[in-house]
Amino acid sequence: MYTLGEFIIKKNRYCFSSSTETLLRLFSSIKLAAKAIHKEVNKAGLTEKMGDSGITNIQGENQKKLDEFAHKAFIKAFKNRNVVCGIASEERKNFIIIKEKKENILKNQYIVLIDPLDGSSNIDVNISIGTIFSVYMRKSSIKMNLTIEDFLQKGNQQVLAGYIMYGSSTILVYSSGNGVHGFTLDPSFGTFYLSHSNIIFPKMGKIYSINEGNSEKFPNGIRKYIKFCKEKKENRPYTARYIGSLVGDFHRNLIQGGIYIYPKTDSSPKGKLRLLYECNPMAFLSEQAGGKASDGKQRILDIEPTKLHQRTPFVCGPIGMVSKLEEFMYCEY
Ligand code: AHG
Ligand code: MN
Ligand code: MN
Ligand code: MN
Repeated sequence: MYTLGEFIIKKNRYCFSSSTETLLRLFSSIKLAAKAIHKEVNKAGLTEKMGDSGITNIQGENQKKLDEFAHKAFIKAFKNRNVVCGIASEERKNFIIIKEKKENILKNQYIVLIDPLDGSSNIDVNISIGTIFSVYMRKSSIKMNLTIEDFLQKGNQQVLAGYIMYGSSTILVYSSGNGVHGFTLDPSFGTFYLSHSNIIFPKMGKIYSINEGNSEKFPNGIRKYIKFCKEKKENRPYTARYIGSLVGDFHRNLIQGGIYIYPKTDSSPKGKLRLLYECNPMAFLSEQAGGKASDGKQRILDIEPTKLHQRTPFVCGPIGMVSKLEEFMYCEY
């Protein structure tokens, strides 16, 4: 069984999408924070880690204690490694600059965007939650200060993206532009072992995932697509599955075959999910797994971001399913 580190070394011998050393250094921080969160999530009911932190975050949400714990775990883990120069998080208004350590001979050149705890509404009820991460190369010169443009890069510029799902087991799934691979944590060793190599979306799935409670507020094209999912024709009706944790819903659909939809609604005309912390990394993984991700009309990875906490409608899954939904969206006009 390969550990994550062994796998990266072996894989990059043949295909360098970013250097082996950089990936190893990035993952040394990501694994450390993931293990700290795994541990905390697993004993949340015993350690007063459930419930609200008492803060309303920049998203206008009641921040949970574990949202804050996870945010701090990642910041700390990245601060202690010489690889990342800036982090933007769902839980903070502004990006955070990581100062270079004096002894550092390699320059910190990477930008990280994170959703430290995804699905926080599920924390208190013991349902799977996750972390989503996205990594870019900085655009500005290393001699200059970081600027907002370093963070507002199109998703197609990502060098690494992935998620950790704290589920019945803890699994880390990533892509550095060379397929999608999953590693399950063996908690007794504290080591991530390769459990899912080269994950590919099943060609045509049978699952649709959407918060249907909002359907009265959906665009017509989405309502018609949901009707289509329920028709008794060909391989339909599809099965409805929705956890309310993007990481969990995405992971199930990736393995079993399904479409995930979070459309715009009358009350959220830009959608709910965040382009930089949620949609871009999931879109990158979708494409790397042979699938597709769009806002219903255009490719997510081609959207030019204008704001750190920008939201977008989001659809991802097997190409056939996403393209079918897009047909319904185009028919609206
Ligand atoms: P977060 O917990 O990071 O704020 O993300 C919540 C997101 C996402 O995880 C999930 O798919 C979606 O919100 C659920 O929204 P609804 O409750 O509106 O369905
Ligand atoms: Mn949130
Ligand atoms: Mn989220
Ligand atoms: Mn979150």
